[in-house]
Amino acid sequence: MRLRRCSAWASGKETTCDTLYVNFLDGREGVCSKSHILCLERGQCSLKRIKILAIVGSLRQGSYNRQLAMLAKEIVGDRADFEILEHADVPLLNQDYEWPPPEPVKRVREAVKSADGLWFFTPEYNHYFPGVLKNLIDWLSLPVGKEPPVIVKKPCAISGTTIGMHATACAQDHLVTLLSYLDADVMNKPRLTIPYILEQVDSEGRVTLSKSRKYLERQADAFLEFVEKRIECASGGK
Ligand SMILES: Cc1cc2nc3c(=O)[nH]c(=O)nc-3n(C[C@H](O)[C@H](O)[C@H](O)COP(=O)(O)O)c2cc1C
Repeated sequence: MRLRRCSAWASGKETTCDTLYVNFLDGREGVCSKSHILCLERGQCSLKRIKILAIVGSLRQGSYNRQLAMLAKEIVGDRADFEILEHADVPLLNQDYEWPPPEPVKRVREAVKSADGLWFFTPEYNHYFPGVLKNLIDWLSLPVGKEPPVIVKKPCAISGTTIGMHATACAQDHLVTLLSYLDADVMNKPRLTIPYILEQVDSEGRVTLSKSRKYLERQADAFLEFVEKRIECASGGK
């Protein structure tokens, strides 16, 4: 097979690579996994994994949406780093305490800043996403000094499940409106809405996803590709 030059070759910046075979800067030729980012520095090529940060809109211990996030982590496997953001300690936003920001706010901001993609897993409360998620996003929407808010241009995916028939569709539409207003980069297709989750929960309350797993797998594939494309564009690739 003919080797193609990786688009990072000329730019010297980080990028994903659109071909399985690449030329490394030190003259070697090799295989590049599509879910890795090539880091080209000082003539070396090393592989850095994409970082996905999952943001769960429920603080409930046995949350079905948190379990959905954990299944997504399992499905993503070693194709990316996948971490669930812990945000229960983020205080209610009060502009009297906006600056300097409380420690939990600094922590979640840093986590979002360093992520390549945000994957929301949200329940639906009264046809909306939970207030705890709105509060978190409000904090993330604030600029820090001269830097733009950390959520700007961030690739985002949205999934959710409910015990009833509504499947978080209304909540997700509201979340899309908010994220779009904040200039985040939302992947609208596919979004994942799972109704009647109790039909896919075992006797110990564990989500098995016996019927819907394939949809979560499809969304994971699509989101990894979505994030990779954004990284490639940002680094001057096609
Ligand atoms: C205040 C409140 C409002 C709710 N409103 C809705 C709703 O509008 N639509 C729906 O499908 N489920 C609704 N539910 C049920 C939740 O979808 C259900 O409790 C779900 O399991 C919560 O997600 P979690 O398991 O991730 O915590 C509501 C629950 C609460 C506590």
